Amino acid sequence: MEVKTSLLDNMIGVGDMVLLEPLNEDSFLENLKKRFDHNEIYTYIGSVVISMNPYRSLPIFTPEKVEEYRNRNFYELSPHIYALADEAYRSLRDQDKDQCILITGESGAGKTEASKLVMSYVAAVCGKGQEVNKVKEQLLQSNPVLEAFGNAKTVRNDNSSRFGKYMDIEFDFKGDPLGGVISNYLLEKSRVVKQPRGERNFHVFYQLLSGASDDTLKKLKLHRDFSKYNYLSLDSAVVTGLDDAANFRTVRNAMQIVGFMEDEVLSVLELVAAVLKLGNIEFKPESRCNGTDESRIKDKNDLKEMCELLGIEQSVLERAFSYRTVEAKMEKVSTTLNVAQAYYARDALAKNLYSRLFSWLVTRINESIKAQAKTRHKVMGVLDIYGFEIFEDNSFEQFIINYCNEKLQQIFIELTLREEQEEYVREGIEWTNIEYFNNAVICDLIEKNQNGILAMLDEECLRPGTVTDETFLDKLNTVCADHQHFESRLSKNSKFLTDHSLPHNCFRIQHYAGKVLYRVEGFVDKNNDLLYRDLSQAMYKANHSLIKQLFPEGNPAKVNLKRPPTAGFQFKASVGTLMRNLQTKNPNYIRCIKPNDKKASHIFTESLVRHQVRYLGLMENVRVRRAGYAFRQTYEPCLERYKMLCKRTWPHWRGPAREGVEVLMTDLQVPAEEFSYGRSKIFIRNPRTLFFLEERRRQCLQDLATLIQKIYRGWKCRSHFLLLKKSQIVVAAWYRRYAQQKKYQKIKSSTTVVQSYTRGWQARKLLRELKYQKRCEEAVTTIAAYWHGTQVRREYRKFFRANAGKKIYDFTIQRIMQKYFLGLKSTMPSMSPIDKNWPARPYLFLDGVHTELRRIFHLWRCKKYRSQFTEERKAVYEEKLEASEIFKDKKALYPSSVSQPFKGDYLEISKNPKYQKLSSAMDEKVLLADVVNKINRANGKGTARLFLLTKKSVVLADQKTGQVKASVPLPDLTSVSVSTQSDGFFALKLKEGSASAVKGDFLLSSEHLIEIITKLHRIGATAADREQLSIDISDEFLVQFKQDKVCVKFIQGAPKNGNSVSCKRKNNRLLEVSVPTTA
Ligand SMILES: Nc1ncnc2c1ncn2[C@@H]1O[C@H](COP(=O)(O)OP(=O)(O)O)[C@@H](O)[C@H]1O
Ligand SMILES: [Mg+2]
Repeated sequence: MEVKTSLLDNMIGVGDMVLLEPLNEDSFLENLKKRFDHNEIYTYIGSVVISMNPYRSLPIFTPEKVEEYRNRNFYELSPHIYALADEAYRSLRDQDKDQCILITGESGAGKTEASKLVMSYVAAVCGKGQEVNKVKEQLLQSNPVLEAFGNAKTVRNDNSSRFGKYMDIEFDFKGDPLGGVISNYLLEKSRVVKQPRGERNFHVFYQLLSGASDDTLKKLKLHRDFSKYNYLSLDSAVVTGLDDAANFRTVRNAMQIVGFMEDEVLSVLELVAAVLKLGNIEFKPESRCNGTDESRIKDKNDLKEMCELLGIEQSVLERAFSYRTVEAKMEKVSTTLNVAQAYYARDALAKNLYSRLFSWLVTRINESIKAQAKTRHKVMGVLDIYGFEIFEDNSFEQFIINYCNEKLQQIFIELTLREEQEEYVREGIEWTNIEYFNNAVICDLIEKNQNGILAMLDEECLRPGTVTDETFLDKLNTVCADHQHFESRLSKNSKFLTDHSLPHNCFRIQHYAGKVLYRVEGFVDKNNDLLYRDLSQAMYKANHSLIKQLFPEGNPAKVNLKRPPTAGFQFKASVGTLMRNLQTKNPNYIRCIKPNDKKASHIFTESLVRHQVRYLGLMENVRVRRAGYAFRQTYEPCLERYKMLCKRTWPHWRGPAREGVEVLMTDLQVPAEEFSYGRSKIFIRNPRTLFFLEERRRQCLQDLATLIQKIYRGWKCRSHFLLLKKSQIVVAAWYRRYAQQKKYQKIKSSTTVVQSYTRGWQARKLLRELKYQKRCEEAVTTIAAYWHGTQVRREYRKFFRANAGKKIYDFTIQRIMQKYFLGLKSTMPSMSPIDKNWPARPYLFLDGVHTELRRIFHLWRCKKYRSQFTEERKAVYEEKLEASEIFKDKKALYPSSVSQPFKGDYLEISKNPKYQKLSSAMDEKVLLADVVNKINRANGKGTARLFLLTKKSVVLADQKTGQVKASVPLPDLTSVSVSTQSDGFFALKLKEGSASAVKGDFLLSSEHLIEIITKLHRIGATAADREQLSIDISDEFLVQFKQDKVCVKFIQGAPKNGNSVSCKRKNNRLLEVSVPTTA
């Protein structure tokens, strides 16, 4: 919730003088002083802001402060210039009311600073954006430019505005700035040529000389030395705390931002330089033949330089300083100027040059900051005019300035009262007129059309004949003598005849702000503001764009014989326009007060402030404000602020705010005369009542604070308690849940156990019952079957013979057999003896028969097969059969021989012519002829021999020659020895003592060993006259070589060097045959 603050919070003294109690000048000053001492420089009188000049920077103009005051109600925060600026800006933006900010106060009271604060505040809070920011920047930067040219150091203020300034800032409907218009009022141009003691010329001269670069100065033909220029008083050329050089840079920069072209800036500086040069031109008298003195220029150097700067022909200007041409009707009369007149002409030129330059600057700035869009806009005017001035020596300028202030006071009185009155009317409050000093009489004294001081001055100036300041004073003395605010020694009013404080050449006016003594000297001249036509024409001829513009009346084509309007007349007119302008706008007042004359912080000179309070009419202001009612407030905030004082309105009032306030006031028993109800506001007559309300509110706030504390503490404890309670419930709930869960799980597991036991017991019981039932059923069935069988047999025995069963059996068997054989016939295997197939038997009991039939069938088909053989083939098979009988499973060589057919004659001995002779030597048929190796006993190597076998003998012959080497009759052969292995070694052992045995046994080796041995055995078997040839199969046997018996031993060797069998002699009695193992 937004904290509602109020002006009334943390107040030092009272923030609004209307609330001052008791109200008198002393308490007023005391309040101001108290606040000033606490750095509270702003105080309100209703909606008027009193601003005390702090003469030091206070930390109350920060961007944070801007934010604080932004969009807040006027009385919401402690008094501040920002509150006023915000109020003005918001009513401009939101209520579409043109505003003006009127800043008044005497010189050095802080008006210019206040106007800048207002402008910067408005710039900070109004819209943003590139274009808008540029406009803002230009508006703000116009200040340094105008201050440089229009401000000067005076005894009152180091930066005193020497011109009046009114600036209209224009906004669009959204409140974004569009541009602005500046109006300037009467620059104090006399300062250009002469400054009072302790004061300076306009800042720009000093800034130019200290800040410009050497180059620029050279171009402008200037020296950096102030003392070289007559127009610059040396009194206070350097002011402490004022950095002219830095300010010059600021000004140049500002000119650039505002939009001055480089050449424009240069032209301006040239003019400034020309004014300085002009001041240095001096004159000397030169007697003429007619006895009059004519002025001559002393040293033409400055004149020359000035003419060069401005592009003026030197002779023209020189002449203009010596002669004066007066044109009357058709005549032109030229008169010479004396030295005094020449000086007058020079100074007049300098003043005109400078003041016209100043006006041109304002116009030029206006061109830049002019609102571009032609849309309807709202305006906020800021008026910062020179303040009321009372010097030791007051002249025409002070008269004008004070007149202006007089007018402002008038408008202040008028508007304040009007506004006040209007408010009462608007609110429907009864209004009784209040007495206040109306300065309208003083204004009349000065500006009245027929007999006002200004009118009379004009009259004097226009009157033919000798016109002096004295004649003017005389006139005043006659016309204004009776006016109660006019005082003069020589007036008809004898009252002042003896008043020595009033010199003869002076008159005194009782201004609203005090009496001011004016010296009449110079009034007529200053009002005339004469510039000799020759000079303006000389200026017009200048070859310098700016100068030409400044002196349009010098144009010979536009010679105007009418006198130009006087300064006083012009000023009166412009003040009139300004006043009318201000009256159309909603005024906001800032009344500046200077706390001391020393420009020092922390000093509060009571007499000085009292004086200002008096002439500013602040007391009257307060009184007027309070005359009706001291305090007013719209119903809503009032109800909001005090509603706690009444039970019925606290804490909420549902009805309209006004009724709420009425209930509140009745309840508080505030006397009826103390307040009135307006349409939208309540008006409180006395501050006392407001303070009573405030006091009650303060007490009530304390009570409320206690109440809030109480409730808060209660709430805090209670919420803590509730939290604890809640937590406890949660904890308890969780714990209970846990405990219940545990318990449940226990019960559940016990139940499961009990249940399983019960179920098991039940199941077993059921099983037992079922088993019993099943057995019973089986028994019943068996019994029933037997019983039925008995019954049936007993029944059927009557119908069948006793042996019918066997017959049935035989028949059945017969049928089975029949089917079996027929089946066998159709599934008979092939006739091949090696076919192993035989159909399966259908019945177990046929097993024996089936096997037998298979055997018979096999024998039969073998027989069938054999019966197809020829005799020869039969013999071959018989031989193979015999070989199998001898060797099968006894010698490893056998399996390889089964597939080899026994060819017998491998040498085809009868056909081979080589063996013709051998063949013929054989008496019997050769059964086997082959090449064998005869093993040599000495080294185990073999020699090839032809081996021939007949029915009677074995013959060994030489392989090459066919010569018979040995012929052994078969009866001499006792046995044959062979190994068990796959070698072809065999030993033929001879009968001891036989003729063949002389040479010993034969150890031979043949590839057809099996065939050879088989054949040998067959022959032996068929011969009736001999013993059966024994065949010895062993891996070690003895062989008789001539005398010795040698043992032949067969070993299994690794299959080395091919598959060959090797025979080695180991020693005399051992031959070792190594046979590779057959895989
Ligand atoms: N609000 C302020 N804060 C600090 N100094 C101020 C303030 N107002 C004025 N001054 C000081 O007082 C001097 C005179 O103020 P200025 O506004 O020029 O007076 P005025 O325009 O009324 O003649 C300034 O130069 C400045 O030093
Ligand atoms: Mg000022």
